[in-house]
Amino acid sequence: MIKIAPSILSADFANLERDIRKVASADYLHVDVMDGCFVPNLTIGVPVVQSIRKCTDMFLDVHLMIDKPVRYIEAFAKAGADLLSVHLEADHPTRIAEALRLMEQCGVKKAVALRPITDARAILPYVEQLDLVLVMTVEPGFGGQAFMESQLETIRRVRLILEQYNPACELEVDGGISPKTAPLVKEAGANVLVAGSAIYNAADLPAAIAALR
Ligand code: DX5
Ligand code: ZN
Repeated sequence: MIKIAPSILSADFANLERDIRKVASADYLHVDVMDGCFVPNLTIGVPVVQSIRKCTDMFLDVHLMIDKPVRYIEAFAKAGADLLSVHLEADHPTRIAEALRLMEQCGVKKAVALRPITDARAILPYVEQLDLVLVMTVEPGFGGQAFMESQLETIRRVRLILEQYNPACELEVDGGISPKTAPLVKEAGANVLVAGSAIYNAADLPAAIAALR
């Protein structure tokens, strides 16, 4: 089943509750956390996730684009995240493993994310315990960028690894997803599609969500 995860990075932050309600027909709500260090942009922190949790029952898929994410796992879990994804490039493998252990302890779903430069095989040390793998299809940091077609190969490779070691694990893609690129990523093996601008820039948001499915 294909799941759609609208990214609130493209929402109006002054009207966040209104803009979250507009995407209630989607499956996950994608929340982009950026620290101005791992990526050259600053966005959402723990208090905002806490407030979002109070105004929606949607599944909160929190994408941590921050250095040394192990420092913030408990805080985001307590704030109400349902799933946390940590970037494999954001710390040493032992501390990525520790971040996953904390997620398990806090009862949130566990995910790792890959920048475009990162090889699919980088998930191998963790694959059996993951609930989701996030493959970036743009350089993380900003919404509205062009889809990187070269990432289709990474999606295929991750799908092959998951088939072998963890078939229940979800495969999410993020960046430049539109009605044009959605069929390509689905064909390559993705089953969760994040979309910011393709949904929030549309006149009819439920129709834009349906078009991606
Ligand atoms: C980018 C973020 C994405 C972003 C996607 O670093 O991780 O979630 O919101 O935006 P679009 O769909 O506009 O490429
Ligand atoms: Zn994201």
